[in-house]
Amino acid sequence: MKILVTGGLGFIGSHTVVELQNEGFDVVIIDDCSNADEKVLEGITKITGKQPQFEKLDLREKSKVADFFQRHKDIDGVIHFAASKAVGESVEKPLLYYENNIGTLVYILKELCEKNKASFIFSSSCTVYGQADEMPITEDAPVKPAESPYGNTKQMGEEIIYDTCKVVSSLQAISLRYFNPMGAHPSAEIGELPVGVPQNLVPFITQTGIGLREELSVFGDDYPTQDGTCIRDYIYVVDLAKAHVVALRRLLDGQNDKNYEVFNVGTGKGSSVLEAIQSFERVSGEKLKYKIVGRRKGDVVEAYADTTKANTTLGWKAEYTLDQAMKSAWDWEQKIRK
Ligand code: WQD
Repeated sequence: MKILVTGGLGFIGSHTVVELQNEGFDVVIIDDCSNADEKVLEGITKITGKQPQFEKLDLREKSKVADFFQRHKDIDGVIHFAASKAVGESVEKPLLYYENNIGTLVYILKELCEKNKASFIFSSSCTVYGQADEMPITEDAPVKPAESPYGNTKQMGEEIIYDTCKVVSSLQAISLRYFNPMGAHPSAEIGELPVGVPQNLVPFITQTGIGLREELSVFGDDYPTQDGTCIRDYIYVVDLAKAHVVALRRLLDGQNDKNYEVFNVGTGKGSSVLEAIQSFERVSGEKLKYKIVGRRKGDVVEAYADTTKANTTLGWKAEYTLDQAMKSAWDWEQKIRK
């Protein structure tokens, strides 16, 4: 089986390519390398012993997308990671996000609708829930008005797929709503490579730990939570990668109940910012320098997944603990700074 992974050199994409290859799939990666380094290919190859095919392509060029599918008629499935994902940047450059995240999705879906059968996995996000009314969050929780154009592109992406699957029965699709991905492959050959100052908590923690950042700013400790800091569902990136393979197999093997399904992918456990810091201190043996500052605009108080549907219907469950995931992030940080 041949699988196209768009954005396959990225953080979650590269870990998913590894798991696909481990399961015997042939993988072809498309990446425009705008937020990923071609050297990631070496890391993937070192882990699996197989170099995936790679094409550097800008999926915003419709003719290039059509040409790719002309040359790769034997694609059985697509896992679509390629997208811009910086929440703050999306507020500054909305059209860049709508063109890149929506335009490319439409071009790929149009190609897949030409095939007799196509399996499609969409990289979505818990961002679609905004601040959910109840915890843990189920897939039936209402989708709330997006806080950012980035979040809106995930909501719109899901709607576009849903509307297409309603009229194209040959298209089988699953949206995976990620909670907070973190960590790195246990081999420390691939991991998160944030460009510039990390926006996300975990890479900022490890970069502070290694001395690259002066200290971590904790964005507010006056939230209505047990220790006052925000709560998130931090999921180990290898667990998340494996969820993509399980979801893809569900479609390829025709096990899906409907031709469009949605699953939350998280651990089901919420951890506060301070608990994440304590986890880092436990696994690294280092004290982390941090200070409490004001809240960050757009942050929700808490978000963690109800994983019942993923555990029972999809048949996938996160296996790694926060400490194990944090340890992998720290090992990776130490390795790349050597
Ligand atoms: C986590 C917590 C911050 C940095 C984002 C995207 C989401 C998804 C995951 C793509 C929050 C706090 C953070 C820092 C801090 N990305 N924090 N100091 O915002 O939950 O989700 O990444 O799909 O779409 O929105 O993740 O890691 O930025 O923040 O105190 O320097 O850590 O306030 O409570 P977030 P995050």
